[in-house]
Order: sequence, then structure tokens, then C-alpha cells
Amino acid sequence: MTQPLLELVDLHAVADDASILRGVNLRVYEGEVHALMGPNGAGKSTLANVVMGHPGYRVTAGQILLRGQDVGSWSPDERARAGVFLAFQYPESISGVSVIQFLRQAIAARKNLSELSVLEVRLNLTEWMDRLGIDGAFAERYLNDGFSGGERKRNEVLQMALLEPVVALLDETDSGLDIDALRVVARGVTTVRERHPTMGVVVVTHYVKLLDEIQPNYVHVFVDGRIVHTGGSELAERIERDGYDAWRSVSA
Ligand SMILES: Nc1ncnc2c1ncn2[C@@H]1O[C@H](COP(=O)(O)OP(=O)(O)OP(=O)(O)O)[C@@H](O)[C@H]1O
Ligand SMILES: [Mg+2]
Repeated sequence: MTQPLLELVDLHAVADDASILRGVNLRVYEGEVHALMGPNGAGKSTLANVVMGHPGYRVTAGQILLRGQDVGSWSPDERARAGVFLAFQYPESISGVSVIQFLRQAIAARKNLSELSVLEVRLNLTEWMDRLGIDGAFAERYLNDGFSGGERKRNEVLQMALLEPVVALLDETDSGLDIDALRVVARGVTTVRERHPTMGVVVVTHYVKLLDEIQPNYVHVFVDGRIVHTGGSELAERIERDGYDAWRSVSA
């Protein structure tokens, strides 16, 4: 059996002494897509942040393994360089930094290059923008400044495509997104996976529609800080129909 790209072992984490993650176990192997679904406040975004190494959370027990290596003590930067990618639920705007400047820095960091030729990045970027159907002028805009929901998503997918992560964590819980923006994510993930078939994906979503297109290998029900049930894509339809009541009692 090959090694998982990402393995979470009995992961517990707190923020401000409040216990949020209470024993998460998850294994993501090469090429797999895992969906996390669960009620508001269950801890899904926290899980993504903790895996990325967000300083606002403290791991109190358990392990985060990247290709078997314990990254628990690594900084977010080190994890990003090692290939963990997190697309935020609410990406912030960074004034004065254009999309292409940001991507160039991010790629240089990930690929451990102190300098990356502007031309090289631009060529790669142009190819991906073509593939993803993104307008050329987009690269010159300031990051997330006045971006529509769909444009934010395009930017996320573009980052994922160019950074070639080992594992991509996508937090797509945002209820403000319309169906077109979700489709950007779904198509983007599919396109990037065609090019990088080994990439592992963990997608957090409330939308079964997104999963129809992304086709996860596993759907996990996340309640009260842990995974309480795992199934295939049929599970997503059951959740959409019946909600999470059946599992709330399981975890109580
Ligand atoms: N930095 C923090 N400090 C204190 N409490 C926090 C912090 N981050 C998250 N929490 C709390 O942890 C719980 C889980 O939050 P989280 O955002 O992870 O939920 P979620 O499953 O992503 O919900 P949603 O589906 O609404 O996005 C919530 O009660 C939240 O208030
Ligand atoms: Mg969330």
C-alpha cells in the first residue's frame, strides 16, 4: 500500500481554550478527492486552518502527516512549500499587489526558487488562464480588490493550478456564491486534476451541486469536531435530503 499524501491521526485542536477539533482521522491518497460536509460551526474551516498551521489554533493531541512526515511543528510557510495548499473560505484583498505579482511570489516560494523569470511565470500563467477560460486582463488586477465571487474563485483555482500542490484544501462553504462561481471551482478542480492526477483534494462544501461535478471518492460527515461517518457520493444526496440530524445524536 502506498503512503497517504495527507494523514490526520486523532487530531485535537483548540482556539482560545475552546475545544474545536475532537479527534479527526483522515487519510488522503494520491489522486483522491474527499468531501467534508457538516453543519455550520462543526469545525470544518478550523480543520483546514489547522492543517495549514494557522497560528490561531493550538494542536493539543494527534498528528498531521504529509507523506508520512510529521509537519505539526512546521510554520504555514514551510507547509506551503511542502505542497499544502489552502483556498480560503473568505479570501482577503491585498491592496497594491496584482494577481501576477502574487502568483510569482507564491510559485517562487513553493518551488524553492529565489528568482523566477517573469517571462516563465507569464507563459505558464497565460496557458492556464486559457485553459480555465480566464480573461488576460485579470492578471494585472489587484488581488481580490473588488473581485466578484466568481473572480475570487478563478483566482483560487489559478493559484492551485500554478502551485501544483500535493494536497489542496478547498473551503467552499461560502453561501454567497452563485452557481456559476461554484462551477468555476468544479471545472477548475477537474482541469487541474487532469494535468496533475496525483494531487489530493479535500473540499469543504454544503453544495451537492459542486460534488456532482467534482465527483468525490469519499464523502465525510463532519459533526462536532470530528468525522462521524464516511461514504460515497450517495451520502451527499442523503445529506441534502435529510440534513445532519441522524448524526448529531451519534456524536453527542
Ligand atoms: N479563532 C477562533 N477563536 C475562537 N473560536 C473559534 C475560532 N475559530 C473557530 N472558532 C469556533 O469554532 C467553531 C467551528 O468553527 P468553523 O469555522 O471551523 O466551523 P465550520 O464547520 O467551518 O462552519 P461553516 O459551515 O459555517 O463554515 C465555531 O463555534 C467557531 O466559533
Ligand atoms: Mg467554514
